[in-house]
Amino acid sequence: MNSAKSGRSMRNPASKLFSRSICTLALLSLAASPLGAKEGVDDLEPTGTYSVYQTDAAQTPPMGWNPWNAFRTDVDEAKIRGSAEALVDNGLAQLGYRYVNIDDGWALQRKADGTLKIRDTMFPSAKVEGYPNGTFVPFTDFVHGLGLKAGLYTDIGRNTCAQYHDAKSPNLPVGTMAERQVGSLGHAEQDMKAIFGTWNFDYVKIDACGVADYAPGTEPVESGRFAVFPPYIVRGDIPKSNPDAVEALYAQLGSAIKEWGGPDAVLSICAWGEALSPRWGHKQGNLWRTSPDIEFNWDSMLRNIDSAVYRTLYAGPGHWNDPDMLAIGHGDFDENHLTEARAHMSMWAIMASPLLLGYDLRHSPQELLDIVGNREVIAIDQDPAGNQGVAYRDGEAMVVVRTLSGPGSRAVAFFNRGDEPVSATVNWTQLGFAPDTDASMRDVWSHETLSPASGAITVKLGAREAKLFRIKGTPLDPDAVWLDEMPARINVAADGLGNHSLPDGWTPARVAAAPDGGPLAAGKTTFDKGIGLFASSRLELRTDGEFGRFTARPAVAEGAVPVQFQIYADKKLVAETKVVAGQIGAIDADVTGAKIVELVTRAGGTEQRGPMVAWANAKLQR
Ligand code: GAL
Repeated sequence: MNSAKSGRSMRNPASKLFSRSICTLALLSLAASPLGAKEGVDDLEPTGTYSVYQTDAAQTPPMGWNPWNAFRTDVDEAKIRGSAEALVDNGLAQLGYRYVNIDDGWALQRKADGTLKIRDTMFPSAKVEGYPNGTFVPFTDFVHGLGLKAGLYTDIGRNTCAQYHDAKSPNLPVGTMAERQVGSLGHAEQDMKAIFGTWNFDYVKIDACGVADYAPGTEPVESGRFAVFPPYIVRGDIPKSNPDAVEALYAQLGSAIKEWGGPDAVLSICAWGEALSPRWGHKQGNLWRTSPDIEFNWDSMLRNIDSAVYRTLYAGPGHWNDPDMLAIGHGDFDENHLTEARAHMSMWAIMASPLLLGYDLRHSPQELLDIVGNREVIAIDQDPAGNQGVAYRDGEAMVVVRTLSGPGSRAVAFFNRGDEPVSATVNWTQLGFAPDTDASMRDVWSHETLSPASGAITVKLGAREAKLFRIKGTPLDPDAVWLDEMPARINVAADGLGNHSLPDGWTPARVAAAPDGGPLAAGKTTFDKGIGLFASSRLELRTDGEFGRFTARPAVAEGAVPVQFQIYADKKLVAETKVVAGQIGAIDADVTGAKIVELVTRAGGTEQRGPMVAWANAKLQR
């Protein structure tokens, strides 16, 4: 991207600049644009809007079943229909597991007119007289007839993942090179029209191997079987990737989905956390992967947790971090590893993660059904406020505090990552409770009400164990909401990083910690509450006219230039102050009746990332 202006148009999926006629041109110029561009200063200007991907879909994290982890491409309609029926028969559908998704392997060919032909040996019901390419309508009718919803799979590039990673599968596209290009590149409108408008799907998962794995010099390309695609994604390498181009492809598909799928259609972005997708996913889709594929072992699950657990500020109704589908039912999470399976489920619930089952439900041990079907755990995952938990780590012990809807309602996961027993503690400050007050507690795995606690709660955890509690206490101040308690109503509109990447383990914007994972701090003073991020940045708060005042201690941790902190209420500047490194200011703004409050930091003149700053102790007063 060359200028702030083009950057803004790409970040807005609804932008008219994405009209069909010029998007090809735009993509071409993106592909050629220099990498590592800086976020435009315009991104700091208040917009008075909440600029996430806006539809009515996925107001709570999607739940359902996907065949990939159970069958890869060795899947067929009978297995999928059987699993859909099992969801209904075993009661999981009633508990919210409603999306039945088809993954990679269904597409046989792209015909000369651009339409897609279904592999009808795999999906026999697709073979209908008068439909030479087949039709998924009988399948989606069946799924809808069960009271469920149906999902399909495609790729932003020309080719899918299985064509590269499962190259020996018998269920790959066939025909000429062009006919085997079943990915949606260049066919966004046509494919979304077919998927949503003609076949009546409700959900699409869009993978990204087509722009990652078919680079010059790779075997599929050198062998002459696949067309070369200059990679937009080089895994693990931002400078060699083209995040803007990847984002633009998803934006284009998002517009087509809104057009053909309407407001209830779900877009699942599957770029495995690459190309900065965890930083822009909330603007372009309903859920976005934060990591590589989950494997059926403990360390892989830990890696996927760490990819999402500190990204609290990116999730909220309609847009969710996706640390991948559940591995329950496989390997370290099968019926012989119920402790691990419960820990997996606990962490996905506390992170407000999508719950997509991936084992063969036609033959499920009851013990696993009891875990994935635990009503109280699901209620935490699906809490309507949509706040992802705030994570604190102490060695192998992790505590994640999630603010639930209802005054003083919290869920807390106590999690032992390691193989030795540990204890884990959560205190009243982390819970946002008034000192010397009691809180009631319920263990949602044992379904027991425990004796009330005060001040702090410490639990002992065995190897790889998680405990999950629902806690009700007395809020610190009944008339105030700390930003820590409303992450689902905060949007990171500009993170100050442009296309710069961060060291492993850093997060662009975090609750109750600095981006590097250290405490919120300026000089020797540290703060327990607030938001840590970089300047120059902009946060949008969805305040909905509920509050009168915003107060915070703006703090600057580092850097040579003073940072300007500004508060806007419905686009109007209502307070500002300048703070230098090591110092802490004070800000008190009248935001009475404002629908959107914006918190802007400006630290002019930085070429690389700006300094770490904090909106410490930030709260909204009723
Ligand atoms: C991967 C994706 C998996 C699965 C697979 C299909 O990229 O992360 O979830 O969809 O492709 O080939």
